[in-house]
Order: sequence, then structure tokens, then C-alpha cells
Amino acid sequence: MLLARKSRGQGLNRYAVIGNPVAHSKSPDIHANFAKQTGEIVEYGRIFAPVDGFVQAIDAFILAGGHGLNITIPFKLQAYMLATRRSKRAEAAGAVNTLRFDCIDGRIDILGDNTDGIGLVTDVEMHSCVTCKGAHVLLLGAGGAARGVILPLLERRPRRLTIINRTAARTFELIERFTAFAQAVDCILEGGAPGVEHGVYDIIINATSSSLNGTVPVFAPASIYSNTLAYDMMYAAKPTVFMQHAARLGGRTSDGLGMLVRQAAESFFFWRGVRPNPTPVLTELRATLANC
Ligand code: ATR
Repeated sequence: MLLARKSRGQGLNRYAVIGNPVAHSKSPDIHANFAKQTGEIVEYGRIFAPVDGFVQAIDAFILAGGHGLNITIPFKLQAYMLATRRSKRAEAAGAVNTLRFDCIDGRIDILGDNTDGIGLVTDVEMHSCVTCKGAHVLLLGAGGAARGVILPLLERRPRRLTIINRTAARTFELIERFTAFAQAVDCILEGGAPGVEHGVYDIIINATSSSLNGTVPVFAPASIYSNTLAYDMMYAAKPTVFMQHAARLGGRTSDGLGMLVRQAAESFFFWRGVRPNPTPVLTELRATLANC
């Protein structure tokens, strides 16, 4: 059993991203850049794990001296279950995208965090004239990606957070889960199926997976005005269909490449206690993506 392991290899510099598939992941490049920038000695690889072999892969990684992992599809929920301790934001997200393995009194402590939401919020706020505080925010989708960003969003104290989803029942579950927190920060938290939107929104976040199949989630066109930032958590070499749609309606747009780099920076900090500057890494990644 994983927790009973009392010894492991030397070296706390070993990190990786684990997923299935994982070959496409940009995390090794991002973290290599962070390491170079900060002077930290970090070795970061990719681990492909069979769908039913996540725990075994983690076990082997710890025994080989691994200190931290990024978790990608489809293992974020399993990582959540595996963690012996979790950050507040991981608890709220119900998913873990970052694990850290600490050796305490001869036992391995597995600490789980979720840096996706803070990555999103900081990236949204990098756009000119966008601040989440006091904003009217429309969140599209009610799956794991949406759930992961709600707490970090609410911590910025938006005035209103409307969540809409094709399947309304999933929205209601999220609202119930976060109502007390929204009340504590004086935010109106509401939602349901598309159609319950209220006027215009300053920020619209697409947390659905619809861009993957080239469709746009349903939302009221009147939600967008000239200063709306329509943010897709997905990214691609070209603007996603959601971004194209929002631009046609007169809004400003962003994809989620910045979120990817900023969540990685938070993971790096969680492991190393050193905060890298995501901006030059994002610029380089954007240029690479444009040339693909
Ligand atoms: P993830 O963990 O990536 O969020 P998920 O839990 O499968 O994945 O959730 C996917 C989200 O995208 C859901 O909100 C889903 O809507 P349903 O709950 O109704 O399934 C949403 N979604 C996927 N394809 C969509 C589409 N074509 N239009 C609108 N919403 C879509």
C-alpha cells in the first residue's frame, strides 16, 4: 500500500505530468522554462498511465524519488481521493491537479492542490480593464472545469455569478454547494439552464468542453457588450468557435493558454516555494502555437 512505504529514492527534484493521453502536454516545456528562469534544479517528465493504473503509477513515481505531479485527464478525481491532505481550493473543486509528496517521520504525506481556478482568475485579470471584484460573471458549464474555478472566482468578490448549463440539474448542485460562500462575500449566485441570464456580463467564461467538438454553448447574445471579456478555458492555434462567436457579438476574447501557464506557475510555487514569472513563458508558448 502506498502510504506504508517508508523509504524512497533520493532527490526531491523530480516532477512530471501524469495523464492518458499525455503526449500533447505542454507542461514539461513550461516547467523547464520556469526552472531555467528561477535557477531551480528541476527534472520534469511525462507519465502515461493506463486508465486503471493510476495508483500503481504514482507508487512507482514516489519510489523513484518523485516529489510532485501535475494531474491531467482523466485522473483529477482519483488524485483528489488519493491525497491525504488537501488545500481549501482543492476541496472546493472536488478535484486535484497538483500533488506533492513529502516524507514526514518516514511516511509519505500526499498533499493535493488545485491551481486551475487561480490560474484562470489571474489570467482573466491580466486583460486590460477587467477585474473580477464587483463584476457580473457568467459561467458556462457545470462539469469539473466549472466547479474548479468557482471558489477562486468568489474569493475575488464578483457582484453576480450566474452559472448556466445544458443540464440544469448540475448547475443546481453547484449553486447549493457554493451558496454559503457566495453569501459570505455578498455575491448573487444563481443559475439554471440557458435562458436565466440577467442583462449584460463583464466576464463570460466558457468552462464547457463544447469547443472540443466545434460547437458553441447556448447563452443569450444580449449578455455581451463592448467591454465583455469572453474567455474560453480551451486554447488552440486559432480562436475557438466560442471566441469567434463572442467577437461577432462585439465582445473581447481570450483563450485559455494564459490559464495553462499561470496554473503551472502556481504548481511550481506549491512544490518549490519560488514563484516564476509566467509572462515570458506565455509569450514563447504563444509564438510556438502560432507556428504549429
Ligand atoms: P470537465 O471535467 O472537463 O468539465 P465534464 O464534467 O464532462 O468535463 O463537463 C463538461 C461540461 O461541458 C458540462 O457542463 C457539459 O454539459 P452537460 O452537463 O449538459 O453535459 C458541457 N458541454 C459539453 N458539450 C457541450 C455542448 N456541445 N454544448 C453545451 N455544453 C456542453
